[in-house]
Amino acid sequence: MNTGKVDVLLGLQWGDEGKGKVVDVLTPRYDVVARFQGGPNAGHTLEFEGQKYVLRSIPSGIFQGGKVNIIGNGVVLAPDLFMGEAKDLEKSGHPLKERLHISKKAHLIMPTHRILDRAYEAAKGKDKVGTTGKGIGPTYTDKISRNGLRVGDILCDFEQKYAAHKDRHMKMLAALGWTDFEGLEETEKLWMEGIAYMKEFKFVDSENEINRLLRESKHILCEGAQGTMLDVDFGSYPFVTSSNTICAGACTGLGIGPNKVGNVYGIMKAYCTRVGSGPFPTELFDETGKTIRDLGHEYGAVTGRERRCGWIDLVQLRYSVMVNGVTELIMMKSDVLDSFETIKACVAYELPDGTETKDSPYEIDNVKPIYKDFRGWKKDMTKCKSQDEFPEEFREYVAFLENYLETRIGIISVRSEEHTSELQSLRRI
Ligand code: IMP
Ligand code: MG
Repeated sequence: MNTGKVDVLLGLQWGDEGKGKVVDVLTPRYDVVARFQGGPNAGHTLEFEGQKYVLRSIPSGIFQGGKVNIIGNGVVLAPDLFMGEAKDLEKSGHPLKERLHISKKAHLIMPTHRILDRAYEAAKGKDKVGTTGKGIGPTYTDKISRNGLRVGDILCDFEQKYAAHKDRHMKMLAALGWTDFEGLEETEKLWMEGIAYMKEFKFVDSENEINRLLRESKHILCEGAQGTMLDVDFGSYPFVTSSNTICAGACTGLGIGPNKVGNVYGIMKAYCTRVGSGPFPTELFDETGKTIRDLGHEYGAVTGRERRCGWIDLVQLRYSVMVNGVTELIMMKSDVLDSFETIKACVAYELPDGTETKDSPYEIDNVKPIYKDFRGWKKDMTKCKSQDEFPEEFREYVAFLENYLETRIGIISVRSEEHTSELQSLRRI
């Protein structure tokens, strides 16, 4: 039988690789765009008709009329934040109600989940994860421990269910000794307004819908959030998010069989960043790190936090390519390195016992990166109009990465002159 295909697009590092920008360019090729994990911890920045938007829970296909956009069962949704995001989009002329379908099996982030997020972080003290504070961890914890509240629950005896869940959370907070409930009442009011607003949307059994669309030969793009190194199983645990950000997450977060997955686009930056705590072998604490942060505008889209910056880590990327089954790489922000005399890439780790490895080990907080140096290209690549205008040194660097990662870099993205913001234009190489 001739069925459609599902492509997956995901981040290979610690998030913020520029997924929003790529999805924006790729969406015209797809009929359906679906989110499969994460929630308002994500911030996908993209530009449409000269205006900049940050999407948190809503799929990036929303700007193209006629597309079906799905929030899958693997996503966690905060009704108040969703309402804010959706109303802003509606105000700027992007009607959503017909185009956006929400899985009944997606879990709801309650106001008390956000308080629990803060309470758990406070309890961890200096070992805190540095979460976005959006209640992601506690919501997924409730899901896995079979205590969650789902979108489908909105349709029946909701107030009662809400009260029981809140009661349980309050007991947990009391056990943690938490006493700060400032603003909870107002938040709850807005949250309930969000629930009423959500009812204007189509709640669906998204696994049935997406498989029907596949049978109708539709092309589906699954849009990942965060990055592979924040995956709850394969990331730098416990400094991770609470969902499976890898390709397999698209199968569980949408109800798609693995044999339906076609292309897996892995997005990476030409360097590396991380927000929040946790190990980061190639982190730079010197001027170079600061220069990358300034030139790359590396500040969080959701929290405004400074992102930690460092050289590209090929050991880590090779691991990400492996666990995701990446078929094609997309490299973002190469032009941030335009002015550098020398560019470094981590090609192996030295372990505490002195041995070297190219396989990402159990712990990465005590490894020493071994670098290979590349000659900088010292040319403004934002002016490159076609692939043969990319400088020789840059092509050598790209060829090395492709060879090391045994995967083609299909798209190179650099900032484009035509755009005032950091929107990047994509060029095939
Ligand atoms: P949480 O997802 O809010 O629980 O945060 C867990 C970790 O993931 C923290 O280190 C966050 O900074 C990081 N994180 C969560 N979402 C994103 C994202 O969209 N981009 C980058 N880092 C993220
Ligand atoms: Mg982001």
